[in-house]
Amino acid sequence: MIRHFLDLSDAGGDAIAMMIADAIDRKEARVSWPKGKVDADAPLAGHVLAMIFEKSSTRTRVSFDVAIRQLGGTSIVMDSGSMQLGRGETVADTAKVLSRMCDAIMIRTDDHAKIEELAANATVPVINGLTDLSHPCQIVADLLTLVERGKALPGLEVCWLGDGNNVLNSIVEAAGLMKFNVRIGCPQGYDPDQAFIETAQSAGVKISVHRDEMEAVSGADVVITDTWVSMGQEHVHNKMAAMMPYQVNDVMMEQAKSDALFMHCLPAHRGEEVMPSVIDGPQSVVWDEAENRIHAQKSVLRWVFNQI
Ligand code: CP
Ligand code: NVA
Repeated sequence: MIRHFLDLSDAGGDAIAMMIADAIDRKEARVSWPKGKVDADAPLAGHVLAMIFEKSSTRTRVSFDVAIRQLGGTSIVMDSGSMQLGRGETVADTAKVLSRMCDAIMIRTDDHAKIEELAANATVPVINGLTDLSHPCQIVADLLTLVERGKALPGLEVCWLGDGNNVLNSIVEAAGLMKFNVRIGCPQGYDPDQAFIETAQSAGVKISVHRDEMEAVSGADVVITDTWVSMGQEHVHNKMAAMMPYQVNDVMMEQAKSDALFMHCLPAHRGEEVMPSVIDGPQSVVWDEAENRIHAQKSVLRWVFNQI
C-alpha cells in the first residue's frame, strides 16, 4: 500500500502527532550549521525526490530540497513549464515515468483533481505541496510550531481572519484530527470549503464562521491569516474592501488572549492582511513557522516511506 500525502487525513491524527514528535526530536538532535549536513542516521539515503512546480514557491521548494538532503537523499526540482507536462504530456504518463525514475513525487499545482490523478497513476508516494484546495505540509509545520511554543493542540482556540482559502481548509481538517476549535472571521462569499468544515465538525470540534471579526478573534490562543489573493486568483477584483475589516492589526490582537501567537504561512503583504506591528512584533512566530517547513517535511517524507 503506497502512502500518499494528499491531505492530512491520509495520515490521520495519530500519525500527525508522531510526525510532530519526530520533527522535534530530529530538530533537537541537529546542529544548526551547516544546513545541508546529512543527519547521522541518513534514513533516506539513496532516495530521489522529484518536485514539480506549476506555481511559484520559495519555502516549499527550498525546504523540501534541504529536507531530503538532510535525510541523506537528493532531489530534482522542475517547473512544469520546462517539462513535457507543460507541453501537453498527460499527468498520468508523467506519474508513470517519474515512478520508474524517482522514489517519491512532490507537486504544487492548481486543480486538486490533478494531484489525485498523479497519485492514482504513480507507483511511488505523491506529496501535496499545495493545490487550490489544500496545503497540508504547511499545517504540519504550523502544528509543530504551536507545540514547540508550549500550546497543547486539544481544545486550542484558533482564529483565522481573512480569505477562506487552501491554507484554511487544511487548518480546518487538522482541527478535526487534532481536536482544536477554529473560529473563522471572513466576508460573505469567502468561506472555506464546506466539506472540510462538516468533516471536522463530525469529529466533535467547533468550527464557526463569523462575519463579525471581533467575535471571531475574541479570546483566541492563536491568530492566523494569509494573503487575500492566492496564486491564480489575481483576476478577482473588488476583494480588498471586503477583506479590510479582517486585517490583523494591533486592535485585533488585543482582542485575543494576551499570550496569543500570530502565524502566517508567508509570503506576507504588510498593510493588507497584516500590519507590520503584528507580523514583525513579539507575538509573531512566522520565522519559526518558515524554518519548521524543513523539520515538518522531513517527518512527512519519513512517514510516506513507512519510517514513522
Ligand atoms: N508557505 C509557502 O508554501 O510558501 P511558498 O509559496 O514560498 O512555498
Ligand atoms: N493561499 C496562498 C498560499 C501560498 C503559500 C496561495 O495559494 O497562494
